[in-house]
Amino acid sequence: MKSLSQKVDKIEESQTIAMTTLAKKLRAEGKNVISLSAGEPDFPTPENVKQAAIKAIQDNFTKYTQNEGIPELREAIAEKFRRDNNIDVKASNILVSNGGKHSLYNALQAILNPGDEVIVPSPYWVSFPEIVKLADGIPVIMKTKEEKGFTFDASDVEPLLTPRTKAIIINTPSNPTGAVIHEASLRSIAKLAAEKDFFIISDEIYEKIIYDGNKHFSIGSIPEIKDRVITSSGVSKAYSMTGWRIGFIAATEEIIKRAAKLQSQVTSNASSISQAAALEALRGPQTDVEKMRVAFEKRRDVMLKKLSQIDGMTVEKPGGAFYFFPSIKGLLGKKYNGTPLKGSSDVAQFILAEAQVALVPGGAFGADENIRLSYAYSEKELTEAADRISAAISKLK
Ligand SMILES: Cc1ncc(COP(=O)(O)O)c(C=O)c1O
Repeated sequence: MKSLSQKVDKIEESQTIAMTTLAKKLRAEGKNVISLSAGEPDFPTPENVKQAAIKAIQDNFTKYTQNEGIPELREAIAEKFRRDNNIDVKASNILVSNGGKHSLYNALQAILNPGDEVIVPSPYWVSFPEIVKLADGIPVIMKTKEEKGFTFDASDVEPLLTPRTKAIIINTPSNPTGAVIHEASLRSIAKLAAEKDFFIISDEIYEKIIYDGNKHFSIGSIPEIKDRVITSSGVSKAYSMTGWRIGFIAATEEIIKRAAKLQSQVTSNASSISQAAALEALRGPQTDVEKMRVAFEKRRDVMLKKLSQIDGMTVEKPGGAFYFFPSIKGLLGKKYNGTPLKGSSDVAQFILAEAQVALVPGGAFGADENIRLSYAYSEKELTEAADRISAAISKLK
């Protein structure tokens, strides 16, 4: 038999999806597993959004739509970018795709040529380096420091620039660290991008989940560099619509045309029903978005207190999203069943086996001395999970 695709061999499987699947399997087998591994809100999709989808079906809005997305939705997204993000765009600057992941895929495919380098700050969301590789680009990993709250500015980026640097991916608030990059740092990177000529892919999917009274700042709002920025977002996290698969980008018309051309040959339009639902999400009442944000902030505070008390873990206070990314340095080398824990995979497996709590090893995000746990779960589950982790860790020798 002829061999299969080498391109696929070169990419990693999504560890977050793998861990979530494993936790579901163990639960189906009757194990009392608490899974803190998934990257999705636990709330139901808001009622008005569900009703809009039901109406779309009843109205037979069930056929192909325009490849780029229905005009009303593109207009509503452009309006959202102007209103919430201060980004000056029109409907023609918007492409609607099948989730934020697909939006990022299209964006990178639209701008990269073989051998182009893309700076990816680490810890990174698992898919960033893989999506770069799929577009024949080279991910250049930029390590950020825990002591600096996993933030960075132009002084961290500059040493990594080469003549082949095509873009940087910025994700604020961040998955997996919850870090929020400050406006001043984003402005310094914008200045560098203009001077050294590179693009900025700004993944702002967690833009609505931000705490401590802070306001999200979009790098695409800086007029001098607006044509260099592709802003990616979607309804998955803000409106608890992960299963509906709607993401979108804002970029120059030229980039949108290229990304749309690619999409027209691969998936065509995103689901008509989901587009109707997303339209209601963006144009309808926003009360549920704020309710969920407030709940996440409360859970963050509850969990921060709990995790800070666990010996061997140190934890930063996340400024947004719904993840903790504690350091497990203090656990490495300790023995479980006589075998030393060597890295984040060992620690995640030990916690799953001993505490029956599923979380994701930091190695998947480029940080093998950390683990990621999501707090998009009820306070009861979070408290119980933290207690179980603490009890398990106290048994390590
Ligand atoms: C940083 C980041 N970007 C993009 C996405 C993709 O979101 P979607 O579910 O809309 O594809 C996720 C989802 O986990 C994410 O964490």
